[in-house]
Amino acid sequence: MEGTPKQPKNCGSLLEELVEKARQQAPGGQVADYIPALAEVDPEHLGIAVVELDGTVHIAGDAHTPFSIQSISKVFGLAIAMQRMDDVLWERVRMEPSGQAFNSIVQLEWEHGIPRNPFINAGAIVIADVLVSHYSASKTAFVQYVRQLSGNPNIHANHRVWESEKEHGNRNAALAYLMKSFGNIESEVPEVLDHYFFQCSVEMSCIDLAKSLGFLANRGVQPGTEQVICDARSAHRINALLSTSGMYDQSGEFAFTVGLPAKSGVGGGIVAVVPDYGVIAAWSPPLNRFGNPTRAVEMVTQFAERLGLSVY
Ligand code: DON
Repeated sequence: MEGTPKQPKNCGSLLEELVEKARQQAPGGQVADYIPALAEVDPEHLGIAVVELDGTVHIAGDAHTPFSIQSISKVFGLAIAMQRMDDVLWERVRMEPSGQAFNSIVQLEWEHGIPRNPFINAGAIVIADVLVSHYSASKTAFVQYVRQLSGNPNIHANHRVWESEKEHGNRNAALAYLMKSFGNIESEVPEVLDHYFFQCSVEMSCIDLAKSLGFLANRGVQPGTEQVICDARSAHRINALLSTSGMYDQSGEFAFTVGLPAKSGVGGGIVAVVPDYGVIAAWSPPLNRFGNPTRAVEMVTQFAERLGLSVY
């Protein structure tokens, strides 16, 4: 631990500077187009929000604009599933980095349908199965959960993205049916996929995301409401998984350069948890070859470096 983060004189102007710098940078990749509805997003959007544990909010750029949270939804799904299930969960999904692309299928057959971690697609589909089995209306439960955490009652799924994911979700369907063949999916595959695609298509802004995940920076207690979202051990475990697997097969590099638990999504978002300080959320749609948002990652990297936020 490096101790208490350095407080810049004006955090807001640091964020403005980072957004301005990012605007000058090359996009660093392409907007995700394997889900056609996502390809329509303006690649020039740039936003960042930092929400501290005392509720202080710093923003710059398009921090208020909702975007598709995609794989960031896997963090919320996991937190809900860990609340509903004991350690038996870890017999169905492991806690190791995969070293493979987020939608890879190869490892899954060798490893008997048990995904390496909850943040690759196969793992998130197992978690979706847990939610479908534990709730009569898992999609409603998911949306209510993020609305409550963020304090924003207007959060909703984008139905065009949801439909588009379903139409183009053959790879995810293959992962789900393979796991079903190994007995690692309990509910019917179409219902599980429907939930998974739904949660990916939920839209939140950088501010919503940074507010929602405060409990991970605060040992499971949501700052502001003081509600216990999970116990300290679960918060520790989620952060550990984010550190080792949240940025897919770029997680090692992210730990090496930034040193914060983090999760990205193909909608261009990234959230990074700073224990005992707060949460950073950034958004820029173009993705690098790992599926991580290049300019958003850069803004988080610079912010963490300038404030000395690494947990290592
Ligand atoms: O499963 C998919 O393909 C998407 N709905 C979510 C993937 C994702 O965001 C991966 N992130 N980098």
